[in-house]
Amino acid sequence: MTKRGGASVAMAVLILAVFAFGLAWAEKYETPSGEVEDSMELKHSDTFTKPKRGPVMFSHQAHHDAYGVKCDQCHHMFEDGKNVWKEGDEVNYCADCHTEPYKTVGKLLSLHQAFHKNCVTCHKATDSAPRACDECHS
Ligand code: HEC
Ligand code: HEC
Ligand code: HEC
Ligand code: HEC
Repeated sequence: MTKRGGASVAMAVLILAVFAFGLAWAEKYETPSGEVEDSMELKHSDTFTKPKRGPVMFSHQAHHDAYGVKCDQCHHMFEDGKNVWKEGDEVNYCADCHTEPYKTVGKLLSLHQAFHKNCVTCHKATDSAPRACDECHS
């Protein structure tokens, strides 16, 4: 084999490695409301323009399939104080409605509190789920 052959084998291996990494990273999870990335990084840099903590990784597959958390425990659309969102309906970003980064206005939680009230409250009730700051925030 020539030197050039060796180089192209190395190149092919590199391309395969990058491709496999890409697949693992961009793994998709099918939901009745559309496809989501699994895992997804929660960072909302449009709302938290100067974040105090690092981003948080979240897996739909783990929460829905393995831990048995129902979609409407996290997703909602309130009408007259009642959650009318159901599986198959469109999902909006939390930040579309919880638009204030740190300030809760009336019943509408800040984005910070919306996430903590949802994620941390359930985790505190579950012995094995992460509850220390740096177990969620990288
Ligand atoms: C169960 C997971 C979880 C735990 C535990 C947790 N957080 Fe968070 N936190 C989140 C998520 C999710 C967000 C929203 C992330 C985003 O969009 O950037 C968030 C947002 C925040 C924000 C607002 C965004 C920013 O970076 O300024 C702050 C501040 C914060 N967390 C601090 C803390 C502190 C301090 C602790 C420990 C006392 C803690 N968090 C524990 C999940 C968690
Ligand atoms: C434990 C909480 C939780 C559960 C359970 C959950 N989700 Fe989510 N989902 C989230 C979070 C957090 C996001 C990211 C929202 C954001 O970034 O503002 C999200 C995002 C999505 C998105 C993408 C929205 C977009 O525009 O990109 C879809 C679609 C979705 N979820 C559908 C579902 C469906 C259907 C189920 C049930 C099979 C489900 N989710 C279960 C928390 C959850
Ligand atoms: C379509 C707008 C909208 C979206 C999208 C939305 N919220 Fe809310 N959320 C509201 C409103 C309005 C309330 C206040 C409801 C009330 O008490 O009347 C609320 C209340 C809450 C509450 C307190 C009530 C409860 O269920 O415990 C939490 C926690 C919360 N939201 C978290 C989230 C998270 C996390 C996301 C994203 C996964 C999200 N919200 C997406 C509008 C929205
Ligand atoms: C209704 C309950 C519930 C809600 C809401 C919830 N979780 Fe969890 N979460 C769990 C349980 C149960 C586990 C697994 C504990 C175990 O390992 O036995 C877990 C584990 C985790 C883990 C570590 C293991 C893994 O699968 O990655 C992370 C990170 C995590 N959750 C992030 C989040 C974030 C971020 C949110 C909010 C967007 C959230 N969770 C909302 C119940 C919940």
